[in-house]
Order: sequence, then structure tokens, then C-alpha cells
Amino acid sequence: MENNRPSWTSRFSFILAAVGSAVGLGNIWRFPYIMGQYGGAVFLVTYLLLIVTICFIPLITELAAGKFLKKEIISAYESINPKFKLLGYMNPITGILISSFYFIVGGWIINYIVLSFSNTGIENHAEYFGTFTQSPVATSVYTLLFLFTCIFFAARGVKKGIEFANNTLMPMFAVILICLICFSLSLPNSHLGLEYMFKPDFSKISGHMFLAALGQALFTLSIGMGALFTYGSYIKDDKSILKSTYTIILSDTMFALLAGIMIFPAIFSFGLEPNSGAGLVFVTLPYIFTQIPHGNLISAAFFILLFAAAITSGISIIEVPIASMVERFKLSRTKACVTLFCLIAAIAIPATLSFGVLGDLKLFGKTIFDFLDFITSNILMPLNALFLCLIAGWALKLRGVTLIKNKFFAKLFDIGLKFVVPALLIILLYFGLK
Ligand code: PFF
Repeated sequence: MENNRPSWTSRFSFILAAVGSAVGLGNIWRFPYIMGQYGGAVFLVTYLLLIVTICFIPLITELAAGKFLKKEIISAYESINPKFKLLGYMNPITGILISSFYFIVGGWIINYIVLSFSNTGIENHAEYFGTFTQSPVATSVYTLLFLFTCIFFAARGVKKGIEFANNTLMPMFAVILICLICFSLSLPNSHLGLEYMFKPDFSKISGHMFLAALGQALFTLSIGMGALFTYGSYIKDDKSILKSTYTIILSDTMFALLAGIMIFPAIFSFGLEPNSGAGLVFVTLPYIFTQIPHGNLISAAFFILLFAAAITSGISIIEVPIASMVERFKLSRTKACVTLFCLIAAIAIPATLSFGVLGDLKLFGKTIFDFLDFITSNILMPLNALFLCLIAGWALKLRGVTLIKNKFFAKLFDIGLKFVVPALLIILLYFGLK
């Protein structure tokens, strides 16, 4: 059976796909606005420290466990102990729930690409964003279009679909990003944006900021729903996973920083506020685009960049349920993709409508969209990461010496995996639930 499993063409393809998974809406949409809400540079310093010291551990663990067990995640957990089967199931379920709201934002991006090419002359961008997200037909169609694009690549398989998407979209992403950064830095007063990003004001440190940084770090590195476990399970060679882990962390952090360097100078150059929340990319930036020469073109480039990043992450999210359906439930890849399309659509459409006609329907006091975001980011992802660390550290007995040459760091890794990271995740869960 193992021989029938898909695998990457090369180590480079794997790294590109893992970077493609990590670099997504979390870097370009979520990171700048959360950083804006938690005081800029001080958030950045905390986030960087957490990435290097803490998040490195669940990241390498997820990849190494996948590479070692070489199974889809439910069967992999079950092979360690049949009692863990249920914990395995939580991963593809989390994937389905995440995609249901992630793909809605993907749909918004498609709308803004279309908008960039049509001269509509919008005056009030906040009002437009509100009206658009409330329109049931447009948002549903765009969400389904985004979902279809991800499913299309995934249906073509690991080599022809996933690798192809990453090999073409990631370089395009990098080129557009560099062009946009040059543009943003050329604006008057752009240095104010850089100061905001890199000059920390330590009076802004708070427990909430620390937890927001930890949550963001886990989300951006795609930790906690089996995506990297699944990608790790497609590695054929026996080479160490350590260098790949560094590359993924470095690239993801670099792209988040570059996204900030692209966005904040432009915001400060126009005297706007960086703390406008989720609307930063869909309201504040479009306003800037209308104020500059060739704004339409720059707007199109920006949203195509966002689209490329979101597609490569979206593909990795759905690969977890697809792998389970194919390997565990013996569905053909095409059948698995069609089933998943229907499943995600069935959840995503009501979630899309929760901005408008279904706005009054509340689950635990939240709209469907907010509920999906809350339950995945605050509960399921930290919970899955917690179980992964506990299972790998205590049941699978994954040890640092098998991953890291330096004995001291290997020992630190063991302590981190068995005690420190689980404790931090429990704290994150506790405050996430409050
Ligand atoms: N890391 C992605 C981002 O930053 O947008 C989001 C993500 C992808 C989360 C894959 C989880 C995942 F499994």
C-alpha cells in the first residue's frame, strides 16, 4: 500500500509546497492587521521570538511524524494506538471547517481582482466592502470559484496538481511582491511605516498580545490540522528534515515581513491608521489604490499576489481530508475531490450568507463565519497541535537526537515537545475559550 502513496518529485518540490502552504492569507491579510492592532514592532519582536523558540518544535514534529509514519493522519494516529483514531479524525474535520471560511476570503480576493480591471470609481471603500460581503449571489459564486480552483489542482494529484500550482504560483508571488515593495517604499514618508514596524514600544506588551502572537505564529506556519503532516508523509528520501524546517520558517517569516514592508509604508504615506482590523486589505488598501497613478494595475497585481498565496495554502488545507478519503476510505482521488467540494460548499455557502441574509443566525452568539474562524483558530488548531506534541513526545517517543545533531539543542527539543509547548498550548486554549 505504501508504494501506491503519492510522493514529491524532489526535496525542492516538497519545500516549495510546504512554503506555499505556510505563506498565505495569514501572512498578507492577517499578519499586518493583527500587528496593527497590537502595536506594531513590539508584536513583531514577540512573534519572531515565538517562531524561533517555540513554534519550531511543533513544526518539525508535524513534518517528521508524517515522514516517519507515511500514512494519512487518521491511520497514522491509529497505528500508534487505536485509541488515538478519534484525535486523528479531528485534523481533516478542522481542514474542512478552516477551508469553509478561508475560501470565503479567497472569494473576496477574486472579486477585488475583477474590480481592479473594471473602472468602477468607488468613492467609499468601507461602504462598498460592506455591501459586497452582504450580497448573497456574488459572494457565493466567488467562494465556489475559489473552492473549485483549489479542488481542480488537488484533483490532478500531488505531482501534476499540487507541485505544478506551487512551482508556477510561488515564483509569480515573489516577483509581484518585490515590485509592490519597491513601489510602496518610493511613496513619500514611507519611512514612517518602517519605523512603525521596526521601532518597538515596549509599553505595549501585554498577555493578550503574547497570545495573539502565538496564535498567529501557529496559523501562519500551518500548524495544527495535519497539512504539514500530510506533506511530510509524501517525502521519499531519507535526508534530515531539519534544513527543510529552517527553510520553511525563514521563508514564511520573510514573506510576512515583506508583506508588512509592502503595506505599512503605503498606509503611513497616506496618513491612514494601521489598526483598522480585517478591513485593512479590503478597505484601506483599495482606497490607496484609487489615489495613485496606475492604481488599477497596482491593485490588480496586489490581489493576484494575494490570490496566488491563498491558492497554494488552500490546496494544502484540502489535501488532509483528500488523503484520508483516498487512503482510508478507498475513494478515487476524483471522487474524493467531488465529495469534498460538496461538503465544503455546504458549510461555506451558509457562512458566506452570514454577512447578509443569515446574519441573525447565531451559533454561541457568533455568526456562522465568526464561529468557524473562532472554533478553528482558537480551539481546534491549538488542540490538534497539543495532541500532536503529546502523541509524538509521549507515545511515539520522538526524540531530538533523531532530528538535531547538537546534543544540547536536542535535549531542549525533548523538554519543549513534552512539557513547554503543551503547557503553552493549554494556556492559549484557556484564554481562547474565555
Ligand atoms: N498558513 C496559512 C496562511 O498563513 O494563510 C493558513 C493555513 C494553511 C493554516 C494550512 C493551516 C493549514 F493547515
